[in-house]
Amino acid sequence: MSERSGTLADDPFRGRQPTSHERQHGRPWEASYQDGPPPWDIGHPQPAIVRLASEGGFAGAVLDAGCGTGENTLHIASLGLSVLGVDVAETALAMAREKAANRGAEVEFATADAFQLKRLGRMFQTVLDCGLFHTFEGDERTQYAASLASVTEHDGTLYLLCFSDDGPDTGPHPIRQEELRAAFNPSSGWNVVAIEPDRIQTRFHGDDGAPAWFATIKRI
Ligand SMILES: C[S@@+](CC[C@H](N)C(=O)[O-])C[C@H]1O[C@@H](n2cnc3c(N)ncnc32)[C@H](O)[C@@H]1O
Repeated sequence: MSERSGTLADDPFRGRQPTSHERQHGRPWEASYQDGPPPWDIGHPQPAIVRLASEGGFAGAVLDAGCGTGENTLHIASLGLSVLGVDVAETALAMAREKAANRGAEVEFATADAFQLKRLGRMFQTVLDCGLFHTFEGDERTQYAASLASVTEHDGTLYLLCFSDDGPDTGPHPIRQEELRAAFNPSSGWNVVAIEPDRIQTRFHGDDGAPAWFATIKRI
């Protein structure tokens, strides 16, 4: 993805290309966190991520791509793992750092664009995407898969939780299984190992949340 030249002090995108989601909503992700908690910011880790963690799914250095205010990141850190949460929303990251300080948690949060992860100069054995992929469209998905591949160790694992099209009461960006398989395939450096039905909790669905896919994807 190309970047716009120059970074103006008042540029809410800080020199990066706005995503399709930001263009459609007419505002940067940052704004979602400035008006009170956004719908996905449920104040605790997603149950699917807690379950995965309890099953030993996370290993080695972990990246949480699009970490928001860091509840999943902090949960993974509480297991004693080294974890970096990245996001483009500075307010979300400030909230995540404050939570970490209040909880005495050893965890790192950084501003980074999910399309430019190679710039981190680091590699990860496990990567988590909780609710980021489903905000991307078209070519963004291909670019994102390549960016993730550039920071994931060979034989490393990507866990991806996204809204599914398997209704009723689907979330705002329902994804078909084929869309996951189109983005993550051997030509982009990935093998989809499993796609299971799951749930994503939000602030506007009931306790049971919205239908989701939980994908386990291995780096070739
Ligand atoms: C639906 S929220 C999910 C947040 C968090 N994972 C959670 O479960 O609460 C998507 C997050 O991805 C972030 N995001 C969107 N586009 C991004 C990009 N290009 N690079 C990094 N983060 C991005 C947003 O700022 C937002 O925090």
